[in-house]
Amino acid sequence: MTVQEFGKLPNGETVQLFTLRNKNGVETAITNYGGIIVTLKTFDGKGLLADVALGFETLAGYLGKHPYFGAIIGRYGNRIGKARFTIDGVTYTLAKNDGENSLHGGNEGFDRKLWKARTESGPDSQTLVLSYTSPDGEEGYPGTLETEVRYTLRDDDTFRIDYLAKTDKKTVVNLTNHTYFNLAGQGNGDILNHEIQINASRFTPVDEGLIPTGELRPVDGTPFDFRKPVRIGARIDADDEQIRRGRGYDHNFVLDREGEGLSFAARVTEPSTGRVLEVWTTEPGMQFYTGNFLDGTITGKAGKVYPRRSGFCLETQHFPDSPNQPSFPSTLLEPGKEYRSTTLWKFLTAQPRK
Ligand code: GLA
Repeated sequence: MTVQEFGKLPNGETVQLFTLRNKNGVETAITNYGGIIVTLKTFDGKGLLADVALGFETLAGYLGKHPYFGAIIGRYGNRIGKARFTIDGVTYTLAKNDGENSLHGGNEGFDRKLWKARTESGPDSQTLVLSYTSPDGEEGYPGTLETEVRYTLRDDDTFRIDYLAKTDKKTVVNLTNHTYFNLAGQGNGDILNHEIQINASRFTPVDEGLIPTGELRPVDGTPFDFRKPVRIGARIDADDEQIRRGRGYDHNFVLDREGEGLSFAARVTEPSTGRVLEVWTTEPGMQFYTGNFLDGTITGKAGKVYPRRSGFCLETQHFPDSPNQPSFPSTLLEPGKEYRSTTLWKFLTAQPRK
């Protein structure tokens, strides 16, 4: 594990970049600004490494406007309808940063905080431990929220994320990571030929502002049925109201969980390289987002531009707008209780198909 300076914030604070490398050579560089995963180098079916995460080479890129590349999202991943929610009769108002709604924690979410960092190493793993205390009332959310995110790279080519939070007042929490993957290598075209399998029999359809209607809709007979592997591009422009609202896929899937603990969520294969990503999680949901808002105006690493649908996100989470949807699994966190969430990204390989 190595540490270097990544740059300075406008207020003069120093930002660090940590590089973790496992015994096989899988490597990730992570900054304590936003807990952003800057690079993620994994092997293909022929043993070649490529960086599969979209992002920037310099801190300046991340300080500018960008769609949450690689970042920790909090306090609340995805949307809260009308940017408000009520706990015990008190209504809390958030910034409307996505039409009428609140998205990804507000104007200055966890993706824009400088996290405290320390490192740990085990016999078969290395961990970057990031912590941040969000003051009571920050971005409109009640309670002082003590947050810890542990990023662990293991020698079995698994990348593990553990989220932990505690509060001193009742609040809502939904943490995730917003890495955009392209398993052909970042900047190498769109992701439409990737094949994805999602372990979900239902999804949460949305209104025009991408707020769930409350229905848990079966995927049977819809472009959202990924229970068997399908090309991402096969039905992404289908004549379907939900596809139109998402401008492609931008939906929360209700995972078919088996008991408590880590459960299989998704498997993505890039056929030309044989790179495979599996996602396992303790969460009940996962946002499958196909980079529909990318538009080629951002230049990322190695001078690559990121056109529409050149990355996909698998944001493990509780369902969007849960604070306003009593029938969804609860995102309420009470004092004395712990918020805990774990997601694994397993990097595997298959025989390249061309
Ligand atoms: C999430 C949302 C998308 C979009 C991206 C960031 O995945 O669901 O609608 O806002 O973040 O651009």
